[in-house]
Formats: sequence, structure tokens, C-alpha cells
Amino acid sequence: MPKIFYHHASGNTDVVDAVPGTSVMRAAVTNGVDGIIGECGGQAMCATCHVYVREDYLHCLPGMNEDEEEMLEVTSSPRDAERSRLGCQIKVGPALEEIAVDVPLTQAEQ
Ligand code: FES
Repeated sequence: MPKIFYHHASGNTDVVDAVPGTSVMRAAVTNGVDGIIGECGGQAMCATCHVYVREDYLHCLPGMNEDEEEMLEVTSSPRDAERSRLGCQIKVGPALEEIAVDVPLTQAEQ
């Protein structure tokens, strides 16, 4: 199973064994990981699944579409030009068997 590491500012890390095909957002919400909300259910319309992808995994990710790009302009915690992504747009599976993200201090208000 794909493994997702959610690193929190407190120093704690949640490790989730995710169902292949699920997203970084969905795996967090399903497993009670704090700091990732997923208000819109994964439609790239709320930015409450904002994460900072750790550098070692950036090269594994697909490019961003226009919707993701727009939503990253309204995140609550500052956008990082290189590492910010929407967790709902990152799917795990055979092409991405492991990923580590830093969870922002705050998420967008709805
Ligand atoms: S869950 Fe709403 S943008 Fe990702």
C-alpha cells in the first residue's frame, strides 16, 4: 500500500497506509489527520487541503492544472512557489508509492 507521511509543525508525524488511487487529502480525512479539511470533497474549489510537498518527492508529481493553480492563490498559510500543492490533486498508487508532506499551520476559511 502507498505510504503517506504527514509532518506537523509540532514535530509529530502521521503515517497512513493509503488505498491505491486515493488522494493525499482523502487519506488524511479518512484517517483523522489534523490540519487537512477537504471542504469541497476534492474538486479543487476550496484550498483546505493545501500541503507542502517535501523536496524529495516533487519530481514524482504531475503538473498543475488551471484550477489548482488558481486555488493555491487563496491558501490561508502562505504559498510556497515550489512545494505548495492541493492534497486532493495528488493521487497515490503504483507511480507514487510514497510521499511526504508538511501540513500548513492553517487552512483556508470557508
Ligand atoms: S479538497 Fe477542496 S481544493 Fe482540495
